[in-house]
Amino acid sequence: MRFSLGALAALLPLAAALPQITRTGKYLYDPSGTRFYIKGVAYQPQGNLAVSTTANEANGGFPEPSDFVDPLSSAANCTRDIPHLKDLGVNTIRVYSVNASLNHDSCMSALDEAGIYVLLDVSLPLNGSIDRASPSWTTSLLNEYTRTINAFNKYPNVLAYNIGNEVINTVNNSNAAPFVKAAARDTKAYLASINSKALVSYAAVDTDLEFRNALADYLTCGNDSVTVDLYGLNNYEWCGQATYANSGWNVITQGFSNLTVAAFMSEFGCITAGPRQWSEVSAMLSQPVSDVFSGGIAFSYFPTSDNYGMVTFGSDGTTVNSDFTALGRAYSNATGPNSPAQSSQSNTALECPPVSPILAASTQLPPTPNEEVCNCINKDALSCTAIPATANNPIKVGALINQACGLLAQTNSTISCNAIAGDGQTGTYGPLAMCSPNIKLNYVMSAYYDANPVATSCDFGGNATLSTSRECPLSAAAAQSAAEACLAGKPNTFTPTASEAPATGSASPSSPAASSSSSKPSAGRVGALLPTSSVVTLFLGAVGLFAGAAVVIA
Ligand SMILES: *[C@@H]1O[C@H](CO)[C@@H](O)[C@H](O)[C@H]1NC(C)=O
Ligand SMILES: *[C@@H]1O[C@H](CO)[C@@H](O)[C@H](O)[C@H]1NC(C)=O
Ligand SMILES: *[C@@H]1O[C@H](CO)[C@@H](O)[C@H](O)[C@H]1NC(C)=O
Ligand SMILES: *[C@@H]1O[C@H](CO)[C@@H](O)[C@H](O)[C@H]1NC(C)=O
Ligand SMILES: *[C@@H]1O[C@H](CO)[C@@H](O)[C@H](O)[C@H]1NC(C)=O
Ligand SMILES: *[C@@H]1O[C@H](CO)[C@@H](O)[C@H](O)[C@H]1NC(C)=O
Ligand SMILES: *[C@@H]1O[C@H](CO)[C@@H](O)[C@H](O)[C@H]1NC(C)=O
Ligand SMILES: *[C@@H]1O[C@H](CO)[C@@H](O)[C@H](O)[C@H]1NC(C)=O
Ligand SMILES: *[C@@H]1O[C@H](CO)[C@@H](O)[C@H](O)[C@H]1NC(C)=O
Repeated sequence: MRFSLGALAALLPLAAALPQITRTGKYLYDPSGTRFYIKGVAYQPQGNLAVSTTANEANGGFPEPSDFVDPLSSAANCTRDIPHLKDLGVNTIRVYSVNASLNHDSCMSALDEAGIYVLLDVSLPLNGSIDRASPSWTTSLLNEYTRTINAFNKYPNVLAYNIGNEVINTVNNSNAAPFVKAAARDTKAYLASINSKALVSYAAVDTDLEFRNALADYLTCGNDSVTVDLYGLNNYEWCGQATYANSGWNVITQGFSNLTVAAFMSEFGCITAGPRQWSEVSAMLSQPVSDVFSGGIAFSYFPTSDNYGMVTFGSDGTTVNSDFTALGRAYSNATGPNSPAQSSQSNTALECPPVSPILAASTQLPPTPNEEVCNCINKDALSCTAIPATANNPIKVGALINQACGLLAQTNSTISCNAIAGDGQTGTYGPLAMCSPNIKLNYVMSAYYDANPVATSCDFGGNATLSTSRECPLSAAAAQSAAEACLAGKPNTFTPTASEAPATGSASPSSPAASSSSSKPSAGRVGALLPTSSVVTLFLGAVGLFAGAAVVIA
C-alpha cells in the first residue's frame, strides 16, 4: 500500500504531539516531572488603527482597533514565521484573538512540530469580552468562549485559555472581578467536561502594589473550582539594565509569594531605555523570581505602532531587529531551575481574605449563564423584540438598551432595568443579567411596551417588532409568572454545555460583528466592550422583579 506524503504526514502528528503541561501547586510541570517555564512571545498582528477604533471608543472603550487578523489561520504566514520563532528559542506564543470559524490545523500542527505551545485569549474585541465599564458574564460570552475552546480542543499544544486581559484596571472597575472569577469557574467546568487538561489563565494589568496583590489574591483564592490556574501580570517595569532590586520585581515577587497557583509575566519588555537587552530574562528564570513565576511572554513579535515589534516584513523577506536577537540570546542562555520537585508539591487553597477595602468586589459570584432560561423568557415572557438587523449590531443594541431603560423609568411600570443589571460590588445579580445583550434589550423594550400597549411603543425607530410567539401585551403579573416558570428549579451553577458542536474547520454561524487585536501593551489591549456602559450606572441597586442569584466563592 502506498501513502502519499500528505497521508503520511497526517499519520505522524500524534507522534510529535507536545505533552500537556499541568499545574501542581504553584508550579508547572511536564509529564516527566520537569518544571516547565514559559519562554514566550506575543504573536498577534496589530489591528487596523486607521479605520476601526471609533466603535470601541463610542462604547466607552480605549481607542483600540475593533478588527483583528487571526494569526493562526494563515498557513503561509505561520510557515514564514515559525523559523524565526525557533530562532528566538520560544516554547510558547500568546495569541490574543482568533476566529473560531476558521481552520487552524496547519498553524497548530506546525507549531506543535516546532515545540511551541499556544496560550490563547478567548475574548474578542468590541463586544467579545467582559466590559469593565458595565461588567456582565453572559450566555453570549460563554458561548463565544466555548466556541473557541471547541475549535482548539483537538490540538495538543494549547497550554492555556486566557479568559481575560486587563479587564479590571482600577479600583473603580474592580466590581468586574466577580464576573471574571465566574468566567474562570465556568470555563474550568466546561474544560473538565470535555476532558481537556488545558490550563485557565488571566492576565492582569500592573498597578500599585496593594491593588496588584489584592486582585491576585481575589482571583486565586478559594475552592480550586473557581481559581485560575495561571495568574499573569502584564509588566513593563524592568527597563534597560535595571536589577531585581530596583525594577520593582522584588516587590512583585514578594507580593505574589503566597499565591497557591502558578504565576507568569503575561507580557513583559520595557522599551523606554534603548534597544532591549532583556536582562530580566535571566532574572525571571532563576531564583528568587522562579520560586514564584514560571516564565513570561515578551511583547511583541509583530510590529506595533508604538515600537514593541521585533520583526518587519518586506519584499525581500522578514527582517529581525536587535531586540529580537537579544531576546533569542537571553532565552537560549537561561534555563529555569528544575526545582522544587513535583512530588513535593500539592494543590492547596489560598484562604480568601476578607475582601480588601481597595477592591470593590463581592465574594458572591454571578450564576452560570443559562441559555435555556434566557431563551425561555425571551419566548414566553417578552412582547417586543429587536429586528434581526438591529440584533446583529452590538452598538445599536447598547444604545437602545439605554434608551428603553430611560423610557421605562418614566412609566408607572413595576418593572425596572434592575432585572438586567448585575452588581459585582454588592453581589446582587438580576435574573436576566446573565442573558445576551439582545435578550436584555428585548426585556426592556417589552416592559415599556407592556406598560404602554400602543403600536408605537414597540417601534424604537424601526428597530423593534411585536413578538409573534404569543399574545401581546402581557400584564406585569403575566410576564412575571412566565419568567418565574422559566427560572423555576434552575441551579445557580452547573457545568455549561456548548451551544454549538465542536468546530471542524468549516464555517460556523454567527460571529461577533467586530473584533480587534493586540496593539500595545498594558492599558492598550483590553479587547472588547459591551456597548451598554451606562446601564450599570443607571440601574445599580437592588434586584427588582426576581430573587437575585448568588454563589459564594469559597
Ligand atoms: C499574513 O501576512 C500578511 C503580510 O504581513 C498580512 O498582510 C496578512 O494580514 C497576514 N494574514 C494573517 C491571517 O495573519
Ligand atoms: C476612581 O473614580 C474617582 C471618581 O470618579 C476618581 O476621582 C479617581 O481618580 C478614580 N480612581 C482611579 C484609580 O481611577
Ligand atoms: C468546591 O466546590 C465544589 C462545587 O461547588 C464542591 O463540590 C466542592 O466540595 C468544593 N470543595 C471544597 C474543598 O470546598
Ligand atoms: C498572602 O495572603 C493573604 C490572604 O490569605 C493576604 O492577606 C496577604 O496579604 C498575602 N500576601 C503576602 C505577601 O503575604
Ligand atoms: C546569561 O546567564 C547568566 C546567568 O544567569 C547571566 O548572568 C548573563 O547575564 C546572561 N547573559 C545573557 C546574554 O542574557
Ligand atoms: C456581539 O454582537 C453580535 C451582534 O449583536 C452578537 O451576535 C454576538 O453574540 C455578540 N457577542 C457577545 C459576546 O456578546
Ligand atoms: C403614573 O401614575 C400617576 C398617578 O397614578 C399618574 O398621574 C400618571 O399619569 C402616570 N404616568 C404614566 C406615564 O402613566
Ligand atoms: C435604531 O436604533 C438606533 C440606535 O438608537 C438609531 O440610531 C436608529 O435610527 C434606529 N432605527 C433604525 C432603523 O436603525
Ligand atoms: C470569522 O470568519 C468568518 C468566515 O470567514 C467571517 O464570516 C466572520 O466575519 C469572521 N468573524 C470575525 C469576528 O472576524
